Amino acid sequence: MISFDEQTQVFHLRNDRFSYVFEVARGRYLLHRYWGRPLRAFRGSAELPALDRAFSPQPEDYENDRTFSLDVLPQEFSQQGHGDFRIPSLGVVLPDGTDVIDLFYDGYRILRGKPGLQGLPALYAQEDEAETLEVTLRDPRGRLKVVLSYTVFTGDGVLTRSVRIENTGEAPLRLKQAASFCVDFPDHAFDRLSLYGGHAAERSLERCRLLRGIEETASARGASSHQQSPFLALARPETGELAGEVYAFSLIYSGSFSMKTEVEQFGTTRVVAGLNPADFSWQLQPGEVFQTPEVVCVYAADGLNGMSQAFHAAYRKHLLRGKYRHAVRPILVNNWEATYFDFDDEKMDALAACAADLGLELLVLDDGWFGHRNDDNTSLGDWAINREKLKGGIEGVAASAHRRGLKFGLWFEPEMVSKDSALYRAHPDWVLRAPDAPMSFGRHQLVLDLSRTEVQDYIVACVSKILETGVVDYVKWDFNRHLTEAFSAGRAPERQGETKHRYVLGLYAVLERITQAFPDVLFESCSGGGGRFDAAMLYYMPQTWTSDDTDAVCRQAIQTGTSYVFPPLTMGAHVSVVPNHQVGRVTPMQTRAFTAMMGCYGYELDITQLSEEEKQEVRAQVALYKRLRPTLQLGTFTRLLTPFDGTKNETAWMFKSEDAREVAVFYFKTLAEPATPIRRLRLAGLDPDARYTFREYYPAQTLSHDSLGMARQSLAGKTFYGDELMQEGINIEKIDADFTAYLWVLEKKA
Ligand code: DGJ
Repeated sequence: MISFDEQTQVFHLRNDRFSYVFEVARGRYLLHRYWGRPLRAFRGSAELPALDRAFSPQPEDYENDRTFSLDVLPQEFSQQGHGDFRIPSLGVVLPDGTDVIDLFYDGYRILRGKPGLQGLPALYAQEDEAETLEVTLRDPRGRLKVVLSYTVFTGDGVLTRSVRIENTGEAPLRLKQAASFCVDFPDHAFDRLSLYGGHAAERSLERCRLLRGIEETASARGASSHQQSPFLALARPETGELAGEVYAFSLIYSGSFSMKTEVEQFGTTRVVAGLNPADFSWQLQPGEVFQTPEVVCVYAADGLNGMSQAFHAAYRKHLLRGKYRHAVRPILVNNWEATYFDFDDEKMDALAACAADLGLELLVLDDGWFGHRNDDNTSLGDWAINREKLKGGIEGVAASAHRRGLKFGLWFEPEMVSKDSALYRAHPDWVLRAPDAPMSFGRHQLVLDLSRTEVQDYIVACVSKILETGVVDYVKWDFNRHLTEAFSAGRAPERQGETKHRYVLGLYAVLERITQAFPDVLFESCSGGGGRFDAAMLYYMPQTWTSDDTDAVCRQAIQTGTSYVFPPLTMGAHVSVVPNHQVGRVTPMQTRAFTAMMGCYGYELDITQLSEEEKQEVRAQVALYKRLRPTLQLGTFTRLLTPFDGTKNETAWMFKSEDAREVAVFYFKTLAEPATPIRRLRLAGLDPDARYTFREYYPAQTLSHDSLGMARQSLAGKTFYGDELMQEGINIEKIDADFTAYLWVLEKKA
């Protein structure tokens, strides 16, 4: 998969999905040559530009060759100071205050498999699943060594890159930038895609023509954030969901990040991504090594679904870990929107009884079970049970669930402390703060300084003490504010710029210890919904609460947006009450259920208050979900229609089982229209030569799989070849209500 041609000095990284090529020029410089469809061989048919460009300087050794300038050549890892005026990948400040350092090629090695990254989550692979190339660059004066790592996976369309930076000299160096990768494209005929949002409005797709100049997708919040996701794609303007070229990047990191594009003077495009340099600096002592986070890069020739399926497959095979990596997830009921802080043993017992009756599988006790927390003003950090609310303790609620055959889950927010807490009174220096400045509060809480080992130990001890009881089967790990005054008591002034990254490293250390110590527990991460929905958190916790907005219409957009990078199996999705608590909308129960069935399914409402008729409907939903769960959670996901396109009024999702035998198609329409256009829905990813029978049909507004529904739908029981379903498609019948949802289940003939 990885070769180096000694004669041409060309590295060729290739599998059956892409080729990625760069060369060593003049024995020193790494120049990017090609990334795209797999090539038999790379011979350099498109030569590198050798033009005398005004105002593009020459390195001293090539003063007389005015056609050679780092400013115009496609760089593999851009540097600063020697005349490449585009975005640098590395910024190193030397003891004399200058930031100019040469990095020349010094050798390479190719390894089977993929080494782990020190202190950071990353994709993993068996020896026969991947090959890794490490290319070493050195400063000729011996002060710095940089190792660029590239991993190619057999059969997966992803390439990973990361960088190791080592101080090989005798004086300390300061890193002011350490990107994970850089790539230069020869043109700029791209649309730029990113995922933006806010609290309860995460991951909408932004797609704009790539502009000349520098554009940035970033977070400086100390978290991967609701506002911008650590994802970027460059798609050809004609690229759609099912066809066309796209290059995409997803960072495995949960803190402040930056993903920049630059279209420069000659129309080429640079992408540089990694830690946010505006939020980072790092002292590197002699002998020390700095490891950057990893970026997962995708080239897909088959559209945005091709890109997403490459991410999904790689994340499911090489990122998720533990017992639940390949396992379907339990259907839960969470008491947050049912009770908020107002619960006691009796209420939880009633929820457990009702959940068991409805066929649910996991009872989750959310915020408010500890300290004296009856609202969000107090008690974070004091992880002792509130006996006024729960006389039988956690064990009592757990026993009530277990007795009924349900699993039991518990909420924590371990990275935070309330000002009103025993922990803050005992350790006011354990929070992030600037010594002589007022503190900023978010939801009345402060952020614990996870860069300190004693704080890490405290968190591990508190959470472990409860998990060691053995009664907790699931943990929801929340994080409800961003980092301000990110300074650490006692850290040397010149090292304070390290605090935000050290916080993230501390978090990973804590998560590694806890998740390894409790391998049977299912962990779900959360940050006010999906404020830290990133690949790094998924490495520790295989699912994430997607958003605090549980309205079905909003969720169709949020989940569709999330699916550009993350597989449905990683998205928590619940049915909630109407009028919806976030936007007040009233949607049919079926629409709420079908929307939530995309992810790890659950209910987040007071199920004890449902009428008998509604309970019947829930029982039917639960039975349907259990039947389809392997296909929905472990199958291949395709977006057929997205709420970001066209009229923004429709969404359609398709799921194909692992064995390709079962297909589920969901269609949602937000607002009914007069003179309803007939929607032709084309399926995708079927075997054109195979026959598919429409086995089940759930028309709008009713969940019962009844003969009336089957009769109304002329497709019921009929069989078609895959090519017709993909080319001709099916019609959606006239829709005369708002917020409708449909489901078809097809079965492939043996
Ligand atoms: C934010 C989460 O996203 C909610 O689901 C809930 O757990 C609250 N925090 C509890 O404070």
